[in-house]
Order: sequence, then structure tokens, then C-alpha cells
Amino acid sequence: MAPLKVTKICCLGAGYVGGPTCAVVALKCPHIKVTIVDFNQARIDAWNSPDYNLPIYEPGLEDVVRQARGRNLFFSTNVDQAILEAELIFVSVNTPTKKSGVGAGFAADLNYVELATRQIARVSTSSKIVVEKSTVPCRTAESMRTILEANSKPGCRFDILSNPEFLAEGTAIQDLFAPDRVLIGSLQTPEGKSACESLVEVYNNWVPKQKIFTVGLWSSELSKLAANAMLAQRISSINALSAICEATGANIDEVSNAVGMDSRVGPKFLRASVGFGGSCFQKDILNLVYLSESLHLPEVAAYWRQVVEMNDYQKRRFSKRVVDTLFNTITGKRIAVLGFAFKADTGDTRESAAITLIRDFQAERARISIYDPKVEESQIWQDLQEASPTVPLVDIQKNVTITHSVLEATRDVEAVIIATEWREFKLIDWHAVYAQMSKPAFLFDGRLLVNPDELRQIGFRVSVIGRGETL
Ligand SMILES: NC(=O)c1ccc[n+]([C@@H]2O[C@H](COP(=O)([O-])OP(=O)(O)OC[C@H]3O[C@@H](n4cnc5c(N)ncnc54)[C@H](O)[C@@H]3O)[C@@H](O)[C@H]2O)c1
Repeated sequence: MAPLKVTKICCLGAGYVGGPTCAVVALKCPHIKVTIVDFNQARIDAWNSPDYNLPIYEPGLEDVVRQARGRNLFFSTNVDQAILEAELIFVSVNTPTKKSGVGAGFAADLNYVELATRQIARVSTSSKIVVEKSTVPCRTAESMRTILEANSKPGCRFDILSNPEFLAEGTAIQDLFAPDRVLIGSLQTPEGKSACESLVEVYNNWVPKQKIFTVGLWSSELSKLAANAMLAQRISSINALSAICEATGANIDEVSNAVGMDSRVGPKFLRASVGFGGSCFQKDILNLVYLSESLHLPEVAAYWRQVVEMNDYQKRRFSKRVVDTLFNTITGKRIAVLGFAFKADTGDTRESAAITLIRDFQAERARISIYDPKVEESQIWQDLQEASPTVPLVDIQKNVTITHSVLEATRDVEAVIIATEWREFKLIDWHAVYAQMSKPAFLFDGRLLVNPDELRQIGFRVSVIGRGETL
């Protein structure tokens, strides 16, 4: 069976994954018309904005959109029309952790995936290859297939593929241009393999065949959860060791370098920090925990759950260290938090460690000033409100100020917290910051960004994750 040559692609979901991924598909495949749709009008308007004021910040993304938009890349809210036209549909909708009902707090909320699937079934008048790009629990493709087959019109067949996305926010475009691998899962039937081949051909416009890994559907779905769980597990492991370093006087940087030089371990993802954030790690591990429990594997569930618990512990430990160091009280004290995004080079704040820290400082009635180079003010207020739902926003705003520069944020403060590893923070004029702070001036580095010895020379009292030196 000859694989279908794809000429029209539609992507449901214009978020952090759908937007950059399909913009790159359009750039690299000028012969394919790519339409990215979303029912969020504001998001689509931003993707279409004449001055390229895109809804997400990602280095290199604007350049990709500038080259392809209007040529073979289109953004629209007309979901039905895009589904009708397309031969291949990426489903890149959100799959957050369930907030209520069975599996609340752990399981993935598949409501958006199901609604998208039902919409594809309802609207389609011709056969489609439906590609699951969202991160989903193992065997979701089977549910999608059941829905599609039960609702399909005569002559329409649906082939389901799993093609999880491994991009990292902050380096998404680089990752999409030269991925470590593209993973495609399909049913091992002639039709499944043929659909898989069609998607391989799309990627092969810029990704070498040896980097395109085709597997069974369920392995593909599980591999995405497994990859995120293993990455997060490395961070929690090094963070657990950072607590031992602080208690013993060892230096976590030295320990992680020594461990990472072992070629069996490797150096990546061994950097201690105030804890991992982002929309994926915690959600995907909790999803794996839920899956393990559903499969009656409680020991496996407990193992992975501990990775998230260690992350929560790391954030709590950091907040406590700030309070302990500032003479056991921060009530009424001024604290600057540098960085609000969950990592550098993104405006994404989902599960950012900064949110938890600021919530903890607010509970102690500290006065907080925040500076982040990319996160919108409205997003910060929304996150702080969600983190403290019982406190009215006006009350939050009495003790929190959003500023526009490092110098503005750190004026008259008693302590500076580095919460995100923005490059800009590596270039801070610490002499100028020190000169305008209250004394003693404390600095807490949650990202191993500063040189503590240099800052101590200036006069700072420096506290770094994973280092036990006395202040
Ligand atoms: N963010 C990441 O770094 C990352 C990386 C790999 C995988 N993922 C996974 O990719 C998926 C999407 O993540 P995201 O960060 O892009 O989410 P997001 O919230 O930024 O974007 C999802 C978009 O889908 C839209 N949507 C929902 N239902 C729709 C429908 N029926 N039709 C059209 N649009 C619809 C929403 O309005 C939203 O704009 C998730 O499953 C996530 O776990 C995310």
C-alpha cells in the first residue's frame, strides 16, 4: 500500500507545542500547506499580528513565522475548515492534570483530546491521518480510534499515529531544527505502517531517516512519559544531594561535575536548583504514577511519586533557608525575586518555582518586588492569585510590586533571590545593586548563577543551593 503524500496539514492547538512545531514543519516543507487552529481568538490574533507580537516567547520563533506565514503557514480559528481540508491532523491540545473527579491531582485531563477527536470525526468527509502530539497516558490512541471509528462517515478511514514532542521550551526552535530523534508510533498493520511512512516523509524533508524512530503505538506513548520522568528524576536526585552538601560543607557543583564526568552518567541535567518547573515534568510524572496505580503497581507508583515530592521539598527547603537566614523572620522585610519564568528564554510560568517561593514569602508577610525580562505583568498577577486563591488580588498587590529592571527591583531590599537563570542576571552590576540595598545585604542563588566569592568580596552575604559555607 503506497503511503499517502501529504500536501495539507492542520494542527489543533496553537500553544507552546503546536505553534512552534507546525511553524517549523511549514518552514521546512514549503510544498505543504500548514494551518494551525485554536479556538482561543486572542492567541490566534497574536500569531497573526502584523508586528509579529507572537503569543509565546521562544528564541528564533519569530524568524520562522516571518518566513512562512502567509506563504504556506496560516493561523485561524476556523477549526472545522482546517480539519475538512487536511489529510494529516496534529492534535496538540493541552492535557493538564485533572483537578476533580477520578484521579484528581494525578491523572491527565483528556477532555480536550476527546473533544478534539470528536470534532475531527464530526467534521471529516474524507480519510485522515490523526497524529497524537499531546502528551497522553498509554493507550489513549486506542480511545481516540474508538471514538473516530464509531463516528466516521462512510468512506472515511482514520489512522492514528503517536508522535510525542520532545522539544524543550527555551530551545524549541533549535530542538525542532535538529531533533535528537523523532518518534512515531503506529499500529503494526499494513495501514498503520503506511500512515507512519507518510509522516516519516514529512519529517524527512529536514530530519535524516536514521533519526526517525518508528515503534508501536503504546511504546511511543509511554516513551514520552518515561523521558520526562527520567529527566526530572535526575534533577530531583541532584537536588537531594544538594541538601546533603549543605549539611556537610560539600559543594554540589563539584559533586555533579565529578559524577557527570562518568561517561555512563553524562553531565546533562545534573545542575542543582530551587526545583524544576514547567508544564510537563510534574504533570507527566503524576500521570505515570496514576498509570502505575491503575496497573496495580504500587511500588512503581511510589518510586516516581518521590521525584515530585523531592521537588516540593527542595522549594520548601529554599524558602525556609531564606527565613532562617534573615534572623528567623521576614515579616515586613523587602525581598527582590529575580526571575518569574520557570526557566530562562521562555515567558512560560507554568509550575514555576518562583510562584511557590513568592507564595511562601507572602504567607510570612514579606514585601516582594519581582523582575522578569519576559513574563507579562498580567500573567504574574494571574499566577499569584491562583497560588493564593483565598487572598483577594488587591491584598496580594499591597505587598507585591512588579518592576522593570534589576535595579528597580533591588532598591532598598534586604535580600535578593535568583529564581530563574536568565542570561541577563549573569551580567548584573552587583556593586550597583549592593550600594542601594539595606545592610546586611543577603543574596540567595537558587540557580547557581553567581560567583559567591566575588559577591562576598563586595560585601554580600551569599547563600547558594548545595553549598554549606556559613554566611
Ligand atoms: N510545553 C512543552 O514544552 C511541551 C513539550 C512537549 C509536549 N507537550 C505536550 O503538548 C501538549 C500541548 O502543550 P502546550 O504547552 O502547547 O499547551 P498550551 O496550553 O500552550 O496549548 C494548547 C492549546 O490547545 C488549544 N485547544 C484545546 N482544545 C482545542 C481544540 N479542540 N481545537 C483547537 N484548539 C484547542 C487551547 O486553546 C490552547 O491554546 C500537552 O499535552 C503537553 O503535555 C508540551
